[in-house]
Amino acid sequence: MEIKKVAVVGAGTMGSGIAQVCAMAGYEVWVRDISEEILNKAKETIEKNLRKAVNKGKISVTKLKEIEAKLHFTTDLKEAVEDADLVIEAVPEVMDLKKQVFKEICEYNKKAILATNTSGLSITELSKATDRPDKFVGMHFFNPVPVMALVEVIKGEYTSEETVKIAVEFVKSLGKTPVVVKKDVTGFIVNRCLVPYLVLAIQDVENGVATKEEIDATMLYNYKFPMGPIELSDFVGLDILYYSTQQWDIVPKSKLLEEKFKAKELGMKTGKGFYDWR
Ligand code: CAA
Repeated sequence: MEIKKVAVVGAGTMGSGIAQVCAMAGYEVWVRDISEEILNKAKETIEKNLRKAVNKGKISVTKLKEIEAKLHFTTDLKEAVEDADLVIEAVPEVMDLKKQVFKEICEYNKKAILATNTSGLSITELSKATDRPDKFVGMHFFNPVPVMALVEVIKGEYTSEETVKIAVEFVKSLGKTPVVVKKDVTGFIVNRCLVPYLVLAIQDVENGVATKEEIDATMLYNYKFPMGPIELSDFVGLDILYYSTQQWDIVPKSKLLEEKFKAKELGMKTGKGFYDWR
């Protein structure tokens, strides 16, 4: 099966990054979100990243123009997904919302491979909302998508071997490294370890075990992590972490995280989380 048109549904941090790398790999990409404001922000972020790449001599101006011409932005789901060969969903981490989005996608497209960028929700459960569980797969990218090499390809209970193969080849075509997750466990490989670690560190801030700066410094200098857990939480998005505490049985709950979520202090993307990013 040849993939030509890719639809990315959801144009937040992850969706815009996924759209960028797909267009850079030569795919025709349709990006859909519910508001023009979100789409404009995604467009600006991608343009900024591409301009940086030109300034660093990584791509030519001609290449930048080619990439931009491959990107189409719309609020119309039908326009985005009809005729798509692959649809990648990257809407907020809420099971019912994702299921609803997939139901709508299936109304307008009958043939595409359906992929979800969920951070850790059940692939099998999500696939049940579609008319083609065998063509449904997890395709989990990492933030920042243009930089991070790894993509988890997760097999749900009904995902066919053929679908896994297509997903793996697609990920390779983006210049990324796929790892096939054979069992649909909560959080897959990475977030199964990472998210409980981040929320435990948040609990330590909440309980006064140490300051956020001390906790971050410990992991930075002792373990050589690129970011400490509190900074990484702000980077990943406190909404994503909060949703995981509500829906994943492997993650502890945190009152402080809930407060941040309710105050819309979601980390770098809103300018404020545990740290001030403005
Ligand atoms: N978008 C695009 N490119 C970016 C970027 C972004 N948001 N942020 C940084 N970059 C690029 C820079 O332009 C730079 O590119 P060049 O090498 O071409 O110059 C490169 O990344 C390195 O950036 P910097 O030199 O500015 O900064 P750094 O060396 O501190 O690296 C970082 C920044 C790559 C983000 C690094 O701090 C890092 O790896 N942090 C950890 C990120 C991580 O763990 N991500 C996974 C989170 S978990 C997740 O996403 C899954 C989930 O479901 C929750």
